[in-house]
Amino acid sequence: MLSITAKQTFLKLGRSWTCCICNFESRFMRTQETTKDYNLCMKPQVQTEIPGPQTRKLTKEMDKIQNTAVLSLFCNFEKSKLNYLVDADGNILLDCFQQISTLPLGYNHPTILEQAHQSASTIANRPAIGYFPSSDFPALVTNSLLKAAPKGLTQVVTMGCGSCANENAYKSLFFWYMKKQRGEEVPADVHDIAYTSCMKNQAPGSPKLSILSFDGGFHGRTIGTLSTTHSKALHKLDVPAFDWPVAPFPKLKYPLEEYGRENAQEEARCLAMVEDLIEQWKDTRPVAGMVIEPIQAEGGDNHASDDFFRKLRNIATKNKIGFICDEVQTGMAITGRMWAHDYWGLETPPDIVTFAKKMLSGGFYYSDDFRWKHGYRVVNTWMGEPIKLMLLEKVLEVVQSQNLLLQAEITGHYIMNGLRQLEKLFPELLSCIRGRGLFIAATVENGKREKFVTNLLQKGVLIGKCGDHSVRLRPSLLFTPAHADILLEKVEETARDMRS
Ligand SMILES: Cc1ncc(COP(=O)(O)O)c(C=O)c1O
Repeated sequence: MLSITAKQTFLKLGRSWTCCICNFESRFMRTQETTKDYNLCMKPQVQTEIPGPQTRKLTKEMDKIQNTAVLSLFCNFEKSKLNYLVDADGNILLDCFQQISTLPLGYNHPTILEQAHQSASTIANRPAIGYFPSSDFPALVTNSLLKAAPKGLTQVVTMGCGSCANENAYKSLFFWYMKKQRGEEVPADVHDIAYTSCMKNQAPGSPKLSILSFDGGFHGRTIGTLSTTHSKALHKLDVPAFDWPVAPFPKLKYPLEEYGRENAQEEARCLAMVEDLIEQWKDTRPVAGMVIEPIQAEGGDNHASDDFFRKLRNIATKNKIGFICDEVQTGMAITGRMWAHDYWGLETPPDIVTFAKKMLSGGFYYSDDFRWKHGYRVVNTWMGEPIKLMLLEKVLEVVQSQNLLLQAEITGHYIMNGLRQLEKLFPELLSCIRGRGLFIAATVENGKREKFVTNLLQKGVLIGKCGDHSVRLRPSLLFTPAHADILLEKVEETARDMRS
């Protein structure tokens, strides 16, 4: 068993602590006990094999009309609460994955539910935001998205999902680039050849430009974003892609602190490759910009140093190309900062920051320079959903009032410490513990990942997978060290079972 308790960790960190759900002194330490009130913290309760008979039956039904190859569990969303997912078979699971990292405050948070109940007319009358927004929409955007805006970015547009956010971010990048070449956003002469050639997908109207992306990156599955996604061949196979440059992403050794010199060399190699690629592509398909995740998530939770990102940003500035930071998975407080790039200490902010998942709505922030003037350049029918912004406004209030950024940072440290102890106990299973805040991953050695994830789920803990050999944690922002204790205990039990 792990020797230090959640409370000791807080004291060691020298931080004062108030649990967001319960008062620390009176209720927090009670949370390891099984209690009927799983609002707080309780051990998971597993009654059936997982997936259970009901999930298996529903999957069979569903499979008649849809491919269910990735379907994991049918859920009971009415019964699920905060960090606990109740599945169709009544199993109560500690959910450290939260609908693929999309629920900032877990299931059925009372503040969010209350807002949803008050928003019936918005739910019933989904507007085409770009054309017919409601009269309170400007205030809504100001009180939600703009409150969370990354430093230096004043403009924002909403979209339905992360892929759509990136897809439209790429378009605005190209608009910006061409405006610089042309001196005006669109040719003033209506007979300009650009207008006719673009209708045939030909230059100069459809210019031969490119976006540089990175090995292992994931930016979506739509056709444009797929050209910058390089995490799994199956995502891309059979789909025509833009011939755009792909740079190596640093392959670092963990823990990062122990391999400073080697990792710095690896990062320097990758940065040099980026510069080479920009130069090599100059005459064929000039690089208009680059896109990168602060931590490559789907690709395996691959990290790079703050220094690497600062240098990359400087390369973009020096070459007068755009810098898109894809914070779809890293954004909204999970790393212990509102945006993961807040850690980098950039002199010049990214030109565009894209978001979705825990932000509830997709979309992107952009700098004034990137603002387009003409209509129909970036628009679609719904452009997201105002209800999501109403909920986001409430989420941001809870994050601030409950100090959840700090909680994510502290709980993240606690989990990392615990996992590193387990790594020492079970080196044949766990390695490369890495993370920032609650955005944590481990490598599971020797082809044992599937079994590890399945066995852990059978013990009532749901985690995710990423890359070829890693597992990832993407809990809600309400995850506390008390929940972490349960997670760590179950990981330890699973590891022991797998050894015997
Ligand atoms: C970094 C990143 N970008 C983009 C996307 C695409 O988002 P969506 O699945 O909402 O289209 C994802 C999804 O996992 C992601 O992790």
